[in-house]
Amino acid sequence: MLTLGVNIDHIATIRQARQTTEPDPIAGAVLAELGGADGITAHLREDRRHMQDRDLYLLRKTVSTHLNLEMAATNEMLAIALDLQPDYVTLVPERREEVTTEGGLDVTGQQARMNEIVGKLEGAGIPVSMFIDAEESQIDASKQTGAKFIELHTGQYAEAKGEEARAKELSILNRGCQYARAAGLRVNAGHGLTYLNVYPVACIDGMEELNIGHTIVARAAMVGLERAVRDMKLAMRGLL
Ligand code: PXP
Repeated sequence: MLTLGVNIDHIATIRQARQTTEPDPIAGAVLAELGGADGITAHLREDRRHMQDRDLYLLRKTVSTHLNLEMAATNEMLAIALDLQPDYVTLVPERREEVTTEGGLDVTGQQARMNEIVGKLEGAGIPVSMFIDAEESQIDASKQTGAKFIELHTGQYAEAKGEEARAKELSILNRGCQYARAAGLRVNAGHGLTYLNVYPVACIDGMEELNIGHTIVARAAMVGLERAVRDMKLAMRGLL
């Protein structure tokens, strides 16, 4: 069944705007789980603009679903991941040169480095997901790293204007998903998904998990986090 990973970074973004202690993303994770989150996703950025190291270690102790650590493929982040032992790691671009034209991680352009970092994580028993555009070359390169998952970048779909453009981006995502699954990869998706655009992506055959952050935290500011998560679970089933 399709699962929802709730990205709680933006709770930490609000906290960091005042350099204070509230709102606490750990409390956010607890409420998200009460609302039906199947997993908690957090991105530790090199500049620590939202999540802090302390958050990750407290999440590791608190999260009772699964913890997905999004991180750049750097030695600093690798050391933290090996120490933290998240349930899985999603490798994402941090700097411009690691990004393909559309915005996913450029695995083909840094195959040796990606093979090395994925090898270390998978070797330590931490499954890895590669956040990439739905292009066959990036899917092939991701498979070659030994990663078990890819996460399809849904940003182009989310930004597409009009029915025709949206349908075209959706079919690119669908084709990417089927291609990856035929190669033996498991497939997640995320970025820019909202209550209004999530359902067609949720219907893609073989999709396992959607990672969604901004729209949920935005709605949470109005109606509370538990309800915002519950609403997203309904939207994923076409029931909202
Ligand atoms: N997946 C990945 C890999 C991301 O980097 C992000 C953004 O942090 C998301 C999903 C969630 O995106 P959004 O906040 O637009 O829902």
